[in-house]
Amino acid sequence: MRTQVAIIGAGPAGLLLGQLLQRAGIDNVILERRTPDYVLGRIRAGVLEQGTVDVLKLAGVEDRLQRESLLHEGVDLSLEGVRHRISFHELVGRTVTVYGQTEVTRDLMHAREAFGGLSVYEAESVALSGITDRRSRVSYTLHGDAREIECDFIAGCDGYHGVSRRSIPAEVLRTFERSYPFGWLGVLADVPPAWDELIYASSERGFALASMRSPTRVRCYVQCPLEDQVEQWSDERFWEEFKSRIGADIAARMQTGPSIEKSIAPLRSFVAEPMRHGQLFLAGDAAHIVPPTGAKGLNLAVSDVFYLYEGLLDYYRQGDRGSLDAYSTRALRRVWQSVRFSWWMTSLLHQFPGEEEFSSRIRRSELEYLFTSPAAQAVLAENYVGLPL
Ligand code: APR
Ligand code: PHB
Repeated sequence: MRTQVAIIGAGPAGLLLGQLLQRAGIDNVILERRTPDYVLGRIRAGVLEQGTVDVLKLAGVEDRLQRESLLHEGVDLSLEGVRHRISFHELVGRTVTVYGQTEVTRDLMHAREAFGGLSVYEAESVALSGITDRRSRVSYTLHGDAREIECDFIAGCDGYHGVSRRSIPAEVLRTFERSYPFGWLGVLADVPPAWDELIYASSERGFALASMRSPTRVRCYVQCPLEDQVEQWSDERFWEEFKSRIGADIAARMQTGPSIEKSIAPLRSFVAEPMRHGQLFLAGDAAHIVPPTGAKGLNLAVSDVFYLYEGLLDYYRQGDRGSLDAYSTRALRRVWQSVRFSWWMTSLLHQFPGEEEFSSRIRRSELEYLFTSPAAQAVLAENYVGLPL
């Protein structure tokens, strides 16, 4: 088989790139290791920057998003149960859109089906070759049959554990990493939220986040030790811990219910440079991971894809390689801004086990400063709503 762009991975990055290329008449094939149901079973964050919504519109997947999403004009930060509102709208004149990543993925899958784009699910043993000699190929097996795709370019959208980044020689790739000494335990439940906007809560017992997916579904998190297993956390234990951190007034009026999903994720920052090697371009989690505080993961995947799409468009429409050549530098500049912001929000709001008293006093004083200084709030707001693409 021959195609112009072979896309590895059908997460939001791969599907979005596929859809943008499809609409521009650039031929592409998506190879995904898992089944569509497996991909849709993963629950991730749910806050979209305006720039992300704009790119989703460009990809033609805004209908359900516009009907079902929630517009949030700010967030609350809470310290020991006392809340302070950060109004993005007042501070920087912008807002964010609450809509689950799973729903973005579902919309993109439907759009691809409707457009007749080829997606190969359950593709095993995907391997890349000819990346630097302009004879790029992707081989894989499907239900035991060996297959190969010849292509101009490969888009590595296969997440942190994918094969694409590992196909770049070790002497070319530099990686940067920070692990945090805790995880997030997340619960999804069908109860109406007792909060209008997200609450990021710092408390002595640890961080908690009150989020939502719709007027009838909440997504809540508590910081937990890295060693914890989901089985140790009954729904009752989770809600009790969440209530002890989120603030007495919310705790008193909130509803709880059985979890429909419960999982623990470690927190990590990771960046791989460069994001391009020969004809291979990395996008999304394949190149970088941010901790979820600030909800930048999906938004960064979308900005990578947008830059890559522009590069491919210039190449196929005008034969101009300039923006493809600039891709890695351009994408990484924005990646590092989000890596910095996510690291900062994580450091500001969590309890670090074994930390000296000095550091926790500094953190507390930074939070108090944030509550009283519109200038400090504007910095948070500007980053949270998303730096320009
Ligand atoms: N071959 C084919 N597909 C693969 C391979 C492989 N060797 N390895 C991984 N994949 C697939 C995975 O099964 C997954 O469906 O690549 C896809 C990558 O999707 P995501 O992990 O969702 O990554 P991405 O599309 O970059 O989305 C970024 O997801 O993890 C969140 O916080 C992150 O919100 C951000 C978003
Ligand atoms: C979520 O709704 O799952 C969510 C929201 C904001 C975050 C992280 C996760 O910062």
